[in-house]
Amino acid sequence: MESRYKTYQTIENIGIAEGNEITLRGWVYKHRSKGSIVFIDLRDGTGICQCIASKNDLSEEKFELAKSLTQESSLTINGIVKKEDRAPGGYELQVTDLKIIQIAKDYPITKKEHGPDFLTEHRHLWLRSSKQHAIMRIRASVVKAIRDFFDGNGFKLMDSPLLTPNACEGTSTLFETQYFDIGKAYLSQSGQLYAEASAMALGRVYTFGPTFRAELSKTRKHLTEFWMVEPEMAFFDLNDDMDLAEDLVEYIVQYVLNTNERELRTLERDTTKLENIKRPFYRMSYSEAVEWLNRNNVPLIKKLPDGKEIEVPFPWGEDFGAVQEEAIMEQFDKPLIIHRYPTDVKAFYMKRDPENPKVVLAMDMLGPEKAGELIGGSQREDNHDLLLERIIQENLPVEDFQWYLDLRKYGSVPHSGFGLGVERTVKWITGASHIREVIPFPRMIHRIVP
Ligand code: 4AD
Ligand code: MG
Repeated sequence: MESRYKTYQTIENIGIAEGNEITLRGWVYKHRSKGSIVFIDLRDGTGICQCIASKNDLSEEKFELAKSLTQESSLTINGIVKKEDRAPGGYELQVTDLKIIQIAKDYPITKKEHGPDFLTEHRHLWLRSSKQHAIMRIRASVVKAIRDFFDGNGFKLMDSPLLTPNACEGTSTLFETQYFDIGKAYLSQSGQLYAEASAMALGRVYTFGPTFRAELSKTRKHLTEFWMVEPEMAFFDLNDDMDLAEDLVEYIVQYVLNTNERELRTLERDTTKLENIKRPFYRMSYSEAVEWLNRNNVPLIKKLPDGKEIEVPFPWGEDFGAVQEEAIMEQFDKPLIIHRYPTDVKAFYMKRDPENPKVVLAMDMLGPEKAGELIGGSQREDNHDLLLERIIQENLPVEDFQWYLDLRKYGSVPHSGFGLGVERTVKWITGASHIREVIPFPRMIHRIVP
């Protein structure tokens, strides 16, 4: 089909134009002059191409123009595409003409080292840097892989609302807002409860969108606004749920390996570690994990009322923190699923294990290389009375959950689902050191600008 809008030659596909004269449009990434040659690293959004402006090929006026360029000035460059194995993309452009669109003055992000605060304040410009550019392209691939995986496996996309009347993942991390005359509304912490209703209507669904947590955790892994994909499947039990989670993660990683070789190289990511991410992954129960912690002397650090901290053997029933998760993961080169957590540390909607009511049919997938928790999921409580009991126990307003309880009144079936955090996944795959680098505009406790 012929395009109705302008199609440009892009740096990404420059190889097809080898030997031809083309026009590139973009911005100056780097620039230096050496005698009668000016080297311009041009970036056009798809990649970076080294352009060689030689005094011999240009009029005096154009050559002076090339010399006058500054970082991030915008321009169009005409030139002949030459194969050059030493150039970053394998090709370079021998410049025949150039036109400046705008000369940029004093671009704030320069070659010198900038601190993370400065860069985050300039996120709107930082995105142009080659590492950030590579991370964003991988993020786009991760999102595409997720959609392809579900769309190709009989799932239907069913979006959940973001403005909601009730909590899903505990009341301590809710963002509140006034909703006209009706009263308080909350930004969604998870689309799950609605995905359950959707699954009862369409069988296998996924909801994919931003979710919000007023997280007070100031870590490298927490955002207050993050993207989550949440599949929900009628007639799936916990085992089916774990199998699906493994298939999804394997698919995403292999997709990125196949699609983003160049970006992974820019990030100097050790891809052998990612090539290894193939099923089967590892699994253990929460109780086995506690035994392992105690066999290996990984304690729980307890804060006493007087503020003093003491170390105690890890007690069954306590939730794992980053310390325990990282200790356990040190022995694994692939993701690990921990299943059957204590009922008391998990959300109200999880189904109790018929074989041991002290645990729920929950599962968390932890990633290797200190990736942390990538996935949280469970089989859902499908018994009306047990679910009501849990809602009351958690002091949740029963009237707000009537619609959710209806799902257990009219054709209740076993069902399961999980949520995968997009940023946790991108952080792991790219090897980024902080989660703020893997979302275009991060939202954290102390940051909402830009
Ligand atoms: O484990 P979580 O809280 O699970 C749920 O919200 C379930 N309702 C999902 C479901 O069963 N449908 O969150 C799921 C995932 C985590 O494993 C993590 O990857 C990510 O969401 N996540 C965060 N990512 C960034 N910043 C935060 N503050 C996050 N909190 C959770
Ligand atoms: Mg979780």
